[in-house]
Amino acid sequence: MPRGAGTLFVKSSKERFMKIHVRNLESGDFSAIMQLEEEIFGTSGESVLGPYYVRLCCDFLNEHCFLALANDRPIAYLLGFVRDREAYCTTLAVVPEHQGRRVVHMLIRAYVPSIIDEVDRCWFTVEEGNGAARALHAALGAREVGVREDFYGPGDERIVSCIDTEAVARLRARYERLGLLGRNEPAPPTATVVPLAMGLMQ
Ligand SMILES: CC(C)(COP(=O)(O)OP(=O)(O)OC[C@H]1O[C@@H](n2cnc3c(N)ncnc32)[C@H](O)[C@@H]1OP(=O)(O)O)[C@@H](O)C(=O)NCCC(=O)NCCS
Repeated sequence: MPRGAGTLFVKSSKERFMKIHVRNLESGDFSAIMQLEEEIFGTSGESVLGPYYVRLCCDFLNEHCFLALANDRPIAYLLGFVRDREAYCTTLAVVPEHQGRRVVHMLIRAYVPSIIDEVDRCWFTVEEGNGAARALHAALGAREVGVREDFYGPGDERIVSCIDTEAVARLRARYERLGLLGRNEPAPPTATVVPLAMGLMQ
């Protein structure tokens, strides 16, 4: 099992438990990601990722890209890449019905170990009004360091935030303390039930 993959059972409103599984992106996930982009960003009038980048993520950059599945249905994803010891986390998204259920923490918990030995910094961009994403970046130790004008087109502004070298070291120490690094072991047995409220995903 690749590093970062994992399974969690969480309570769902419809069924007693729902199996949430996070794994690295695979070549066959292309259509699922395009569909999720449409569902999460397209329907609210935002632009969606181009197929070329999504194909690159699925086929070449998947060491740092993750997909979460709920009972085998794709529900969330994190896309990013590493270049010259800098990580760029380009997309983090959860389908609306699963937002607020800490799935995003599972993706982050898979992502951090995948980059932590390879980078000195990690970069994000975010819209000013996106409180959830900004809070997540801050919780990882990122600081907002600037604003990019005309990012995806004229008038499109993005806040740039960065987990700098010191913050990467702090993040690493936290993951080490929690025993979340350096493990390359099978996912927990499928009988394991982890209550959401325990907050173990951070
Ligand atoms: C950003 C996103 C991935 C966060 O996932 P989520 O399931 O909504 O996040 P959660 O509700 O589990 O909250 C994650 C953290 O952010 C905080 N948070 C959530 N909404 C917030 C808000 N509006 N303001 C401040 N903090 C907020 C929560 O307190 C939580 O921290 P905690 O787990 O320590 O309590 C999700 O909202 C999403 O997919 N949005 C649409 C796509 C998007 O905009 N992606 C980001 C840019 S690529």
